[in-house]
Amino acid sequence: MKRILLLGKNGQVGRALQTALPKTAVVMAHDRTTCDLSSPDHLRRTIRDSRPDIVINAAAYTAVDHAETDPDACFQINASAPAVIAEEAKRLDALLVHYSTDYVFDGRKPSPYVEGDAPNPLNAYGRSKLQGDQAVVAAGGRHIILRVAWVYSATGKNFAKTILRLAAERDELRIVSDQHGTPTSADQIATATSSIIEKIINSRRLGADHHNGVYHLAPKGVTSWHGFASELISVAQQYGIAMCVQTNHIIPIAAKEYPTPAQRPGNSVLDTTKLQRELGVSLPDWRESVRAVVVELARPTERTAA
Ligand SMILES: NC(=O)c1ccc[n+]([C@@H]2O[C@H](COP(=O)([O-])OP(=O)(O)OC[C@H]3O[C@@H](n4cnc5c(N)ncnc54)[C@H](OP(=O)(O)O)[C@@H]3O)[C@@H](O)[C@H]2O)c1
Repeated sequence: MKRILLLGKNGQVGRALQTALPKTAVVMAHDRTTCDLSSPDHLRRTIRDSRPDIVINAAAYTAVDHAETDPDACFQINASAPAVIAEEAKRLDALLVHYSTDYVFDGRKPSPYVEGDAPNPLNAYGRSKLQGDQAVVAAGGRHIILRVAWVYSATGKNFAKTILRLAAERDELRIVSDQHGTPTSADQIATATSSIIEKIINSRRLGADHHNGVYHLAPKGVTSWHGFASELISVAQQYGIAMCVQTNHIIPIAAKEYPTPAQRPGNSVLDTTKLQRELGVSLPDWRESVRAVVVELARPTERTAA
């Protein structure tokens, strides 16, 4: 049985992974109380004691705006810790699955980003994640870096939950419409990760070094934050969630009308051709998971109440 070490088990992706990972593997899952990424010694000891075949790092400092005034903590978790994880994974010849972000790009490209496009992050979070990606590659071990964007789920803090809360309280919302990307549910990321891992476990060819590297992972389609919010609210109404705002009162605005501490890219769209071609993974249209997440939020369960 393969041994999988999962770091960041309580994050959006971490939680979804606990459900999605292959049942044929032994999963050793940690949160910050059992493995703190800000302590390199603790991190090394956890990895060495666990003797994993696969390490999945779903832990990260994801508070994009806070990172502007708290860069040391952000770089510690997103850049220094992945370097330690990658070094230890290499020592054990374990495969490291790590997550990256669309925010490594500046968004000035007029078409979807491919893996080989030059990064140029606009904010501290993006710079820290890029440094983490570079450290994983530099360690020289077996690795898959899945670059994802606009992550949301029925748990945790995310744009989707904030919008649905505001839409239930206010009769007008003003949402940025000149930043484009593809909303991606944590469940989709976890299912795709699990399928990639299963393929690697079952196929010597996929385990070969030439599959090392960065892969863009996103559903099909493109929207703006305004388009995402409009879809969320319309689906929520279909599922009987009480909304205060009417769809014609969701006002599109320019990003410059909603200034934030961290600058964000105008184009976050990721080209996923490489993932499909080399690892046989492709995701459906982004709207499908909006429905799935809203259904989950509409259902009063222990999970959504968390
Ligand atoms: N969220 C997005 O929109 C987005 C977009 C692009 C890429 N990504 C990337 O996707 C991956 C998964 O993101 P996510 O949305 O699942 O993030 P998330 O929900 O913010 O979860 C991150 C997890 O990391 C944990 N963590 C933070 N500091 C830690 C530390 N010192 N030691 C141990 N654990 C620590 C957090 O623990 P606590 O719960 O205790 O704070 C949290 O459970 C990350 O690599 C992220 O950079 C995310």
